[in-house]
Amino acid sequence: MVYICVMIKSTLIKAVEAGAKVMQEYFQKEFKISNKEGINNLVTEADHASERAIFEIIKSDYPDHFILSEEAGEIATDSSFKWIVDPIDGTVNFAHGIPICCVSIGIEQGGDIIMGAVYNPFINEFYFAQKGFGATLNDNIIRVSDETETSKACLVTGFPYTYLDQPNGPLEVFSRLIRKGVPVRRLGSAAMDLCWVAAGRFDGFYEHKLQAWDSAAGFLIVEEAGGRVSDFTGGSYSPYQHRIVATNGKIHDELLKWVNGEVG
Ligand code: IPD
Ligand code: CA
Ligand code: CA
Repeated sequence: MVYICVMIKSTLIKAVEAGAKVMQEYFQKEFKISNKEGINNLVTEADHASERAIFEIIKSDYPDHFILSEEAGEIATDSSFKWIVDPIDGTVNFAHGIPICCVSIGIEQGGDIIMGAVYNPFINEFYFAQKGFGATLNDNIIRVSDETETSKACLVTGFPYTYLDQPNGPLEVFSRLIRKGVPVRRLGSAAMDLCWVAAGRFDGFYEHKLQAWDSAAGFLIVEEAGGRVSDFTGGSYSPYQHRIVATNGKIHDELLKWVNGEVG
């Protein structure tokens, strides 16, 4: 298994770097932008090109592995390894030349996320985690923050392109926290949000409608940095669960109460 993991890690790094290289080639240049479901839910030429570059690496090293990717959907096989790919996380930022965007790839095996990498080439931040082996930023070990009170925390969230006004939906929870005076940032890249929780910059993150490719890599990076990731009820994380709370662990139970409207 150790040997397999070394090989998979090397492919994962190559794949993330290949996607990031494509992002750099297109960044702040002219490219085609199309709209998906919802207003401003964009996909660019660069998303597709990054995805192609990533697939080329994965398929050449592991032609039989399962791939789930945002733009292409599923390339289903009966392998127990599944690569969960977001070729550009933070596409709206990317399309506007805002350097808060990244490639994010998580690897699931037999239902567990065993490895994840997130790379933002514009600020040169490469996050990596392997289950049981800790999390790193540019090869340096990272840890979550020490904050113990939600009222003193610095939080981050994101808003889906649709589904905003439901009871206890994204706007209601945001408004509750902001009215309490808690700083809640909105960066526009869930994978970066999760990595910045792992790096101790944010104390917590929550979002109502994430997809597997948004959270798979970031989840493991937070957990391996000593944090906790759950659904909104405190139940264990699954990449196929839309509602995610990720924290330093110390504010987790309290933040869940705030998010669920059990406080204030
Ligand atoms: C989006 C970003 C954003 C989050 C959205 C995601 P995309 O991913 O992660 O921060 O709020 O829910 O869809 O579309 O840029 O890959
Ligand atoms: Ca995404
Ligand atoms: Ca994307």
